[in-house]
Formats: sequence, structure tokens, C-alpha cells
Amino acid sequence: MSDKEVRILAIESSCDETAAAVVVNGRKVLSNVISTQIPLHTLYGGVVPEIASRKHIERINQVIAQALEEAECTLDDIDAIGVTYGPGLVGALLVGVSAAKAISFAKDIPLVGVHHIEGHICANYIQNEDLEPPFLCLVVSGGHTHLVRVVDYGKYEILGRTRDDAAGEAFDKVARAIGLGYPGGPKIEKKAKEGNPKAIPFPVAKVADGPYDFSFSGLKSAVLNYVNGANMRGECVNEADIAASFQRAVIEALTGHARQAIREFGTDKFAIAGGVASNGTLREAMEKMCAEEGVKFYYPAPILCTDNAAMIGSAAYYEFMAGHRDGWDLNAVPNLPLGSR
Ligand code: KG4
Ligand code: ZN
Repeated sequence: MSDKEVRILAIESSCDETAAAVVVNGRKVLSNVISTQIPLHTLYGGVVPEIASRKHIERINQVIAQALEEAECTLDDIDAIGVTYGPGLVGALLVGVSAAKAISFAKDIPLVGVHHIEGHICANYIQNEDLEPPFLCLVVSGGHTHLVRVVDYGKYEILGRTRDDAAGEAFDKVARAIGLGYPGGPKIEKKAKEGNPKAIPFPVAKVADGPYDFSFSGLKSAVLNYVNGANMRGECVNEADIAASFQRAVIEALTGHARQAIREFGTDKFAIAGGVASNGTLREAMEKMCAEEGVKFYYPAPILCTDNAAMIGSAAYYEFMAGHRDGWDLNAVPNLPLGSR
């Protein structure tokens, strides 16, 4: 790679955050602006795709302008534009992709499409300057649960993924079932602190033909059945015990698979990423497991775990340095597979 400083303007709009950032050489963040729509979607108990698209359109230009301003630069200082083009909500993705294409065309700046999960993984490069591939990474967000072997920059092998609900989705659904509201992850984490994680023996599902695959829908159903059963009997439920026991089951599944992968693939570095990675109890459990296995543990700060554009700027840098460029035919791909370059 050359010694020249490479400045990327990155744009992210795959779900309910409109975000833009300026990142130097994939690691140094000059600005990281996030305009979240969470309070708006909370009114409906979850993300409403049409509302998300409309809000992205309203916010995108302002967010990009703010990112440039905070980075104290103009488009003339930008070497490439990185943008999330999948996976995600198609209407939401389109807003970011269209904005990126328009700037790229108007200012003749190279365009680099980025995979959203690759962005989450790269959040670890921003947080930890010493981190280099190869390593193992668990990506746990509202839409994804992937155990990934990061073979090299931009080169990924998926060891396992969820067969049904994503980990964050399970947090959100269980939170709704016990009346905690949206988004469920932080609310369950808070409630769980008052409860006993061993109070209710919720099951940790194993997937018979996929040692590294996950399944969280059975766990979610077990929680719903527990709550419905108690309601029918006219009994009160202890929400804190439910939250703590549910969270314990999710964490057991995640750390169990991670430990097995560390042993099988003999890595010395393990990272987590995605919205659920900001869960403090999960971090502690992963840290303990990694210490037991003699592996260095990496995790991004919460602001880099949630959807943001700095992580997209990091991923775009490595794609850009590998020579990847996109044309005016770049489109939103809602179910884009990881490693499809
Ligand atoms: O990465 P992210 O911001 O968006 C997606 O790409 O999906 O992840 C959002 C998800 C939501 O499901 C949210 O409930 C979950 O991450 N989450 C958490 C916590 N904070 C956010 N889950 C568990 N514990 C948390 N502290
Ligand atoms: Zn995400």
C-alpha cells in the first residue's frame, strides 16, 4: 500500500441511521455523524421501512455536509466515496447509494460500494490500531448473526450464521413481549442487571447439521410461552429474571460457538462487532472466554458498534486500496452476500 494519505467520505443508510463520516487511511476518524431515527420508530415498536426511507432523504445532505465540516475538509480533499449498498432495507439503501453516486459523478471522485457486515467488522480496525487479519469475528446485530473468519483485508469466510432470528432481533422481540419497548437490546441489558440469570432454564439451541450456525427463534418462543403460561394462570412474571435468563441463554450460545471456532481454527485474535456487541455482559463473557483460551479479545466502542459511517469508511479504504471501484450501475442490494466481490 502507498504512503499517501487516503481520505474517504463514507455514507451509511441501510436501516434507521443516516450517517456520514470522513476517515483517513481506514483507521483515523476525522468525523462520524449519526442521525438516528430510533425515537421515531419507537412509536411503532420497530423500524417502519417507508418512514426510514423518507427520513433518510430529509437528512442525508445535511449529515454529509456536517461530516465534511467537522472533518474540516471539502469534497476537493476526498479521494473516494464509500457507501453501503447492501444488505439492508432497499428503499433506505437507495438513498445513500444515490447520494454517493451523485457526488461521485458531480465531482469525479471514485465510488466504492461497501458490504454492511464488512463495515461492522472493520469498526475493529478503527478501535484497535494494531489489529490486522487474520482473526475470527462474531458479528451480532439486529439483522445479522455471523461467525466470520477474516482471512485478509476484504477476504471473508463465513463459518456460521443464524438460521432464523438474528441475536439483536431476538432481544427486540423478547423486550416487546415483556413490555420493555424498542430497541430491546439496551433495555433487556439494563433489566437483566436486577435479575437472576439462572432463574429460568431457557434452552440454548444447537443446529444439528451446522456446528457454527445459530438459532434463536426457539429461545424467543420459549420466553413467549413462559410469559403466556404465567398470564393464563394469573401469575405475575419477574421481568428482571426473564431478561437475565434470556440474555444468559443468548450469551451461552454466542460464547460457546466462538470458543469452538477458536479451538478449531487456532486463531490468536477474536473480535466482536455489531449493535449487540455493545452489550456489557456479552463483552465480559467473551473477554473471560478469550482469556481462558489464551486469545486476544477486540471490541469496538459502542458508537462504533451501532450503525455508523466511520466503519464503512474503513472498509471502503481497504476495498479502494485493493483496486475496487464501482460505476453508475451500483445499486442497492437488500440481500447482498458477504464476500461477493
Ligand atoms: O448494528 P445495529 O445498530 O443495526 C443493525 O445492523 O442491525 O444493531 C441494532 C441491534 C438491535 O437489535 C438492538 O436491540 C441491538 O443491536 N442492541 C443490543 C444492545 N444495544 C443494541 N443488544 C443487546 N444489548 C445491547 N446493549
Ligand atoms: Zn448494522
